[in-house]
Amino acid sequence: MRVVVIGAGHVGLPSAAALAHAGHEVVGLDDDAGRVAALQERRLPFFEAALQELVDAGSASGRLRFSQDPSEALPGADVAFICVGTPPARPLRPGLQGGPSRPTGEPNLLAVEQAAERIGRCASGDMVVVEKSTVPVQTADRVRIVLSRSPGHHHFEVASNPEFLREGCAVEDSLHPGRILVGADTPHAHEVLRRLYAPIVETGARYHATDVRTAELAKHACNAFLSLKISFANGLARVCEAAGADVVAIADIMGSDPRIGRAFLNAGMGYGGFCFPKDLAAFRAQSLRLGYDFGLLDEVARLNDEALEAVLDKIEGALWNLEGKRVALLGLAFKPGTDDVRESPALRLARSLIGAGADVVGFDPRAHAQAAAEVPELELAPDAYAAAGGAHCLVVCTEWPEFAALDLARLRELLAVPVIVDGRNLFDPEVMARAGFTYLPTGRPPVKQEPPPARPLPAPPVRRPSART
Ligand code: UGA
Repeated sequence: MRVVVIGAGHVGLPSAAALAHAGHEVVGLDDDAGRVAALQERRLPFFEAALQELVDAGSASGRLRFSQDPSEALPGADVAFICVGTPPARPLRPGLQGGPSRPTGEPNLLAVEQAAERIGRCASGDMVVVEKSTVPVQTADRVRIVLSRSPGHHHFEVASNPEFLREGCAVEDSLHPGRILVGADTPHAHEVLRRLYAPIVETGARYHATDVRTAELAKHACNAFLSLKISFANGLARVCEAAGADVVAIADIMGSDPRIGRAFLNAGMGYGGFCFPKDLAAFRAQSLRLGYDFGLLDEVARLNDEALEAVLDKIEGALWNLEGKRVALLGLAFKPGTDDVRESPALRLARSLIGAGADVVGFDPRAHAQAAAEVPELELAPDAYAAAGGAHCLVVCTEWPEFAALDLARLRELLAVPVIVDGRNLFDPEVMARAGFTYLPTGRPPVKQEPPPARPLPAPPVRRPSART
């Protein structure tokens, strides 16, 4: 089939490459000229494991190409995917004359509207238009209205096919998704998307076919529920710290119940990234707009902020005054396996520490350029050991697997004070105790080293009577 994927970002690019891999003719359409030019030379705009190989293979087969021109890319396509960004709307539209303002957290859907407008303008025949971007329920109704203004009077069917891929595993998730969700309101649109996905479904994906609104809402429900699980674990971590219990052991116990499941119960510095924070806020805003006050979602977001505050409190507790102290951050990306720093807890922490007068140095295996653009005051070290050199405290912000293999004796030597705050519970407390660290994990009993014995004060100098007295 002939497919156009609008938006070559974290969702659009892996999806386009996976559809080409499945045998379709795919054009990745993006209005960023630099991005398109780079992709035409097979240079990726971000790091994603195995994506380079998939894009190379698709380009070499001739089934995957990139374009900036909708009037060239869209004619003749059977299916167009909308994979553009839906960032939080900023600034919020103020209420008129003291009236209520728009609920906060609503996404900015301008790029979705523009994509629909381009499809309507450039299509050369009937087409199935698929929302893949995460959008509030009922967005398809808006997209239909825009498409209905198509000068060509073609017939468009709008479907929703939310994406569940995770950054860092986007290729694996696109080629072998656990599930595929398609919402459509006509048998024909369902039939087209079933044909499109047939080669991928064969790999064992569960296929959910439903109506458009259910599919749109299901995506928000999934991301909100996963955020809720993380916030539950983070709230539990606070109780564990107060009670002297271990949140990791409790998460294992809870997770062994298949009704609960172990995934997304890792307490830490909270969730970040371009999806959970904005999707939770968008879901909350849309619920309110529809007349339901889903207050639980506010609590989830509040607990997420609190998780980061708790890390800051631990650092402050260990260092006393932050002014002039050197703090090393291990990991700057919002999670391992990506160079994405959007809404990264590590960078939120860096900003707070810098604001409080600390001297902050960070290391990340992938995200230095992105972190420097976001927090220019952050010093970047060439590796984890260089970051630790002379620091009064080391904070694990992102659980890159390579950090677990660091030479602890060397790290201890390099730190000015051997304190590690583990915002991701990466290390084993017993190992840290043996290695001689004061180790402050999340929701687990801390390891405190005995302070060095007080040195006896030197004897006061013997005062000789002065000649004059
Ligand atoms: C998330 C969803 O997992 C995907 O299914 C979805 O397709 C995607 O959003 C999206 O809407 O596009 P992603 O943002 O790539 O994927 O990252 P996750 O792996 O879900 O992690 C999100 C955040 O939660 C990270 O900051 C991670 O460190 C944090 N997290 C995750 C925890 O703090 N604890 C956990 O137990 C799990």
